[in-house]
Amino acid sequence: MDLQHVLQTDILSIIMAIAVIILLWKYMGKQRSYGHLPPGPSLIPLLGNLLQMDLKRPDKSYMELSKKYGSVFTVWLGPKPVVVVSGYQAIKEALVDQGEEFNGRANPAITLKLFNEHGVGSSNGQRWKTLRNFSLTSLKNLGIGCRSLEERVQEEAKSLVKPLPRACPPQLRFHQPPVVCMHAYLCLSAVSSRFHCEPQRAPVPYYHQPILVHSPWAQLYNISPRIVECFPGKHQELFKAIDKAKAYIRLEADRRLKSLDTSNPQDYFDVFLVKMLEEKDQPGTEFNYDNLFPCVWDLFAASTETLSSTLSHACLMMIKYPDIQEKVQKEIDEVIGSNRVPTADDRHKMPYTEAVIHEIQRSMCLAPTAVPHQMTRDTTFHNYHIPKGTTVFPLLSSVLFDPKLFKKPDEFYPENFLDENGRFKENNGFLAFGLGKRSCLGDGMGIPRMVLFLFFTSLLQHFTFRGTKPPEEIDDTVVSYFIGRLARPYTCYVKLRTANI
Ligand code: HEM
Repeated sequence: MDLQHVLQTDILSIIMAIAVIILLWKYMGKQRSYGHLPPGPSLIPLLGNLLQMDLKRPDKSYMELSKKYGSVFTVWLGPKPVVVVSGYQAIKEALVDQGEEFNGRANPAITLKLFNEHGVGSSNGQRWKTLRNFSLTSLKNLGIGCRSLEERVQEEAKSLVKPLPRACPPQLRFHQPPVVCMHAYLCLSAVSSRFHCEPQRAPVPYYHQPILVHSPWAQLYNISPRIVECFPGKHQELFKAIDKAKAYIRLEADRRLKSLDTSNPQDYFDVFLVKMLEEKDQPGTEFNYDNLFPCVWDLFAASTETLSSTLSHACLMMIKYPDIQEKVQKEIDEVIGSNRVPTADDRHKMPYTEAVIHEIQRSMCLAPTAVPHQMTRDTTFHNYHIPKGTTVFPLLSSVLFDPKLFKKPDEFYPENFLDENGRFKENNGFLAFGLGKRSCLGDGMGIPRMVLFLFFTSLLQHFTFRGTKPPEEIDDTVVSYFIGRLARPYTCYVKLRTANI
């Protein structure tokens, strides 16, 4: 081996060693600055606890850790700590009693790039308060002032079930039935136009966003944005899709502004534009193009994936539990019959169906760690010091599967929501929508529960779902992602029950 080669090799090793020492030094400094965080498993420099976790089912790992470390603990996801709050009492103390401190929104690198802390779902501080109040009021006014949301959903539910029997024999093999119908509903509430069952033709190219956001590339981007940005991958597709959506919203805004009837806004988009015009001379207004796109997008994103996935899982559960499907259909036949569309009022007369829908949502646990929160200021909680900016996961799954709150938490058991007389029974532990002021905006308006009820009953009024294999062989588990869970794809038979469609 010649001297030059030895020197070159050694220099390379020395440079690498120095780089590692610098990284470790920076990392230890950062770790020290977090001070007195809640306890948690011992960590490996730079990787934190990533190697100890089940990355395919991180929510499961958090549940295991909560058994060991109690209701408040810390995990390090790479070089960043996350404080996990577990159990009803601790989550309530954090999100309700100390809500001002705990209700910031943590934005991973990908969300930061896409929305730059704008829009109701990603913003913080006064901007968030302004946009949240505005969105709640607008949706409420739209429900009252224009054609009611209920009517719009009914119409969508009708057009979902209508084309099926005409196109097919009475028994049809169908792939994941209702996934796309929700896009249509959302278009209606946010931008009014329809693109029924053809999400590819959506005015906002939302339809493939979930797949891209959950892709490993997107997750890598969150860990190391500057490096991953230089590589091709799904994250680049996502950026392009969002750019396209932003351009669409801008064009649509210009088109609408030309003929906007400010006294009669037709949808959320119009209401936002009216507010933009009202406040156009106000310095520092939040009603500008920077917030228009993410606000409209938030309504799509926050509800499309959640509702369609829940409905898809609902049909899967009917296949898995045919006796429960029969009981729901019996209640539908008794209360609604087959000649009229279901209404929101029917919910109060249908305790069993209502309990089944709640149980579907509980057992599915779509957002086991909610949408990540962030501390808005340095805070003492359970005698620990949590600095401003720390990410917090409220472990909703610890409540939704708590045996103290639900009789059979690990089974599909609608009786979890029924009293001994068969009446529907609310349960404080039903945290599918989160808790406190940062909880689901849609649920604050009663939207998701009403939409799920109308679609679910419309489907079971007209169709019976059967599996392509026996119920006991059907996998009814949901698919976990790094944040959140989605319905498992499946194939089923759909049998027409009534010709009255
Ligand atoms: C099955 C249906 C749904 C479920 C399970 C669900 C669940 C959730 C959860 C767990 C959160 C986060 C709460 C937190 O951070 O603590 C959330 C936030 C949100 N949801 Fe929903 N949601 C659903 C449907 C909807 C619908 C239909 C809409 C719109 C009409 C909506 C709009 C939002 C918005 C805008 C946020 C962000 C709120 C904020 O940051 O202030 N969601 N949702």
